[in-house]
Amino acid sequence: MFRSVVIGVGSYTPENALTNKELEQRVETSSEWIVQRTGIEQRHIAAEGETTADLGEAAAREALKNAGIGVEDIDLIILATATPNNTFPATSVQIQNALGMHHGAAFDMQAVCSGFVFALTTADMYIRTGQAKRVLVIGAETFSRIIDWTDRTTCVLFGDGAGALILEASEAGDGSNQDRGILTSHLRSDGAHKEKLFVDGGPSSTQTTGHLRMQGREVFKHAVGMITDVIVDAFEATGLDENDLDWFVPHQANKRIIDASAKKLNIEPKKVVITVDQHGNTSAASIPLALSVAVNDGRIQKGDLVLLEAMGGGFTWGSCLLRW
Ligand code: ACO
Repeated sequence: MFRSVVIGVGSYTPENALTNKELEQRVETSSEWIVQRTGIEQRHIAAEGETTADLGEAAAREALKNAGIGVEDIDLIILATATPNNTFPATSVQIQNALGMHHGAAFDMQAVCSGFVFALTTADMYIRTGQAKRVLVIGAETFSRIIDWTDRTTCVLFGDGAGALILEASEAGDGSNQDRGILTSHLRSDGAHKEKLFVDGGPSSTQTTGHLRMQGREVFKHAVGMITDVIVDAFEATGLDENDLDWFVPHQANKRIIDASAKKLNIEPKKVVITVDQHGNTSAASIPLALSVAVNDGRIQKGDLVLLEAMGGGFTWGSCLLRW
């Protein structure tokens, strides 16, 4: 039986960090309001001309280096993004080319903030069925390009960045929960919630890129319930529970959503990885960025049980339980 084991991790954030204080100059807000309601202190903003593909490529290069392999060892690239460079070709294919990879395949996935969990789950399927040995899974976003910078209810929340993981097929385990690799994942979506969080443009509807629109309170109201539902699914599927967890690495949208979800699930605060203060909400990039931080600072170690979850526009939501 194949398991998808993480063998490398990488991340990239643009050089320019935009602080809450700087945002006070742009819209009627205060650093205190932003920190109190969201936990965000700063977010990174891509430089002029710096694209989602550039961010994704940088994170991918670091993940390859971290894994000690080259692009020749990768069979498939899956990029989770809601902010592609172009309507087509897929940004993943542009990253593939930038990495000098001309074999295998690459495609994009669109599940907004849940994109990385959807991409990881898809990569796991390719590995479990023997169709790929190593998959490069990237989350990369430039949400600064779809933000309405005059709308204080949304512009304070989001940032740009990228993270990447490399999954490798392993037959080392015995099929038990002690195996390294992805143990279970659970994906959900429900389009009835479209109006609560969407972009008001697109090629087929308006022939424009559009801007992000959100009913923040409505999103908040649904977030905790949806997140905890798919985590309970992961626990039921494996027989593991919150006491078995070493790390909880949630999508970094808002510290209050993260705290409320952890509390509802009885996950101890010391097990929760939080980077939203430094990155803001980077959508599909937030989980691999947070993983990269917690691996590089030595918190996440080989053999640790790590729980990932995300919820975002659509709505889409999902969880992934893996042993590092
Ligand atoms: N600065 C100052 N005041 C503001 C700001 C701001 N940036 N934004 C809104 N306000 C004001 C509002 O105008 C309102 O004023 P009023 O009472 O005079 O009308 C007041 O603050 C309260 O507004 P609410 O929207 O009710 O504030 P709330 O406490 O709900 O916080 C927030 C807003 C932070 C957006 C919250 O609803 C939230 O976190 N929602 C979840 C949204 C989210 O995380 N989305 C990410 C994408 S989905 C995902 O990734 C899970």
